Amino acid sequence: MKKMTTKRQLAMFLALMMTLLMAFTGCGGGDDDGAEDTDGDLPTIGIVSISDHTSLVMIRDAIEEQLAADGYIDGETVTIDYQSAQGQASNLKTICQKFTSKNYDMIIAIATPSAQMALGETTEIPIVFSAVTDPVSAELVDSMEQPGGNVTGTSDAVSASQIMDLARKLTPDIKTIGAVYCTSEINSLSVIEDLKVYAAEHDLTVVEAPITTGSELKDAATSLVGKVDAVFSPIDNEVANSMPAITQVLDAAQIPFYVSADSMVMDGGFATYGINYVALGTETALMAEDILEGTDPGTMPVRTIDDLQIYINTDVAERIGVEIPQDILDQATVFTDDNSGNN
Ligand code: TRP
Repeated sequence: MKKMTTKRQLAMFLALMMTLLMAFTGCGGGDDDGAEDTDGDLPTIGIVSISDHTSLVMIRDAIEEQLAADGYIDGETVTIDYQSAQGQASNLKTICQKFTSKNYDMIIAIATPSAQMALGETTEIPIVFSAVTDPVSAELVDSMEQPGGNVTGTSDAVSASQIMDLARKLTPDIKTIGAVYCTSEINSLSVIEDLKVYAAEHDLTVVEAPITTGSELKDAATSLVGKVDAVFSPIDNEVANSMPAITQVLDAAQIPFYVSADSMVMDGGFATYGINYVALGTETALMAEDILEGTDPGTMPVRTIDDLQIYINTDVAERIGVEIPQDILDQATVFTDDNSGNN
């Protein structure tokens, strides 16, 4: 690991020397499109995120930390332009158009909608995505092994089956399960399909409560009260953006809310079996570095994270009256209300 860092720093140094040389000799000149340049001739990375919900901020921080640790320091060796669409898909287009019109050297796109928009704007500039649940269904890559174009990155694919196995250990009596998700998020749809297969195999009934925007969440949750024994959400950005709207309803009705990401447990979901998003952000940064150093994204397989853990919110457990078996608690990462990124 240490060795890699040294090699990376050397490569970075050489890349910078090349840039300077090209600037002096007038060669290269990727910026001669008349667009405004940022911070002289430093390579520029645009980072675009669909919103600033807890998980996406964790990912961005991990990316920036790893880049800095490897010598890609904002304002010194690179320029990093971070832009959040604040949950508005329409903002994504403006941001991605800005990045491409300024001919940035790389785009790092956090979450599926950001990556889709970035690819819609450029098939030339390398795009490294982070936390895209299903990059093939999202039509970002040809395959996980051989992405093919200018895009590759990390996936946070999780399995509804594994989460439901945990759910049935924590709350063994569940027979009906509500499914809350946004219909326009392709990242949610494949996980919901997985849930339905699992339910059919285990004699569970799924009651769907689909939404089109976060403002419908409270009503969607309310519609499930009295009909389901538990509620499930995939890795859905709309749900993650508005966690309190749903947890207030479900906690009051003492319905366990099984989610798909650690951040959603921090923000008041009950439990999940999910990946480590800091590790995912770190991996994204390492891929970005390799591409900046010359690797072709089209030949670089999409990476996933094997580090899966149980996450439980013990304050929620208390509110909904669920006692957590000691053997599960011993393996779990425990959160309480104090961990919420929404506080
Ligand atoms: N996987 C989501 C996507 O593909 C993004 C995401 C990352 C996310 N972490 C999350 C969504 C946590 C909800 C909760 O768009």
